[in-house]
Amino acid sequence: MKIFLDTANLDSIRKYNDMGILDGITTNPTLLSKESGNPVDIMAEIVKIVKGPVSLEVVSTNTKGMLEEAHRLKKFGSNVVVKIPMIAEGLKAINILKKNNTSVNCTLIFSANQAVLAAKAGASFVSPFIGRLDDAGQVGMDLIREIVQIFKNYNFKTEVLVASVRHPLHVIEAGKIGAGIVTMPPDVLGKMIKHPLTDKGLASFLDDWKKVKKANPKLVI
Ligand code: G3P
Repeated sequence: MKIFLDTANLDSIRKYNDMGILDGITTNPTLLSKESGNPVDIMAEIVKIVKGPVSLEVVSTNTKGMLEEAHRLKKFGSNVVVKIPMIAEGLKAINILKKNNTSVNCTLIFSANQAVLAAKAGASFVSPFIGRLDDAGQVGMDLIREIVQIFKNYNFKTEVLVASVRHPLHVIEAGKIGAGIVTMPPDVLGKMIKHPLTDKGLASFLDDWKKVKKANPKLVI
């Protein structure tokens, strides 16, 4: 399972990148709007920090504008993945970008049919938004199950990038289904690291070691 961070926060990206657990980054205009500083500079910096794929989203809603933005975003680095929304003009843009060997992440996927069409147009990644489906009273993970099954049935090469992840259980469920990538906010990744029994166990090991040190003050490991 590949782990992506869904953020434009440079401190979080550096923190988790240094742990060697990040396979890539996804951003969107909302995430960029939460950061102070020039969003274009932030995007360029993220691409420099992370070696894996970095999804940067277009904001045009017509094919021509999307292609122009894609052209500029790609200049940040060879690991840029252009994020294109799942609309008819977006599918046209994906088809052209695929022919130019540009990697595309098709975003705002809420049905298996949309995922199939994005894959057929040439997207390298599809991003189904499971948390937003959960919020709307649908089981988001059912969509992941459907897409993974259909892509497997037809040997589609497009990767399923589980997005709009809200908690660590989403990550486990996506992994059990066999989705290739899960992108998550920094707080979810932080929660994956922690377990109360780990903290309790470490405190007890350190307490016991203090007793050993008391008896042998010169002891060094
Ligand atoms: O990157 C897009 C997606 O992950 C957004 O998540 O929490 O805004 O639904 P959310």
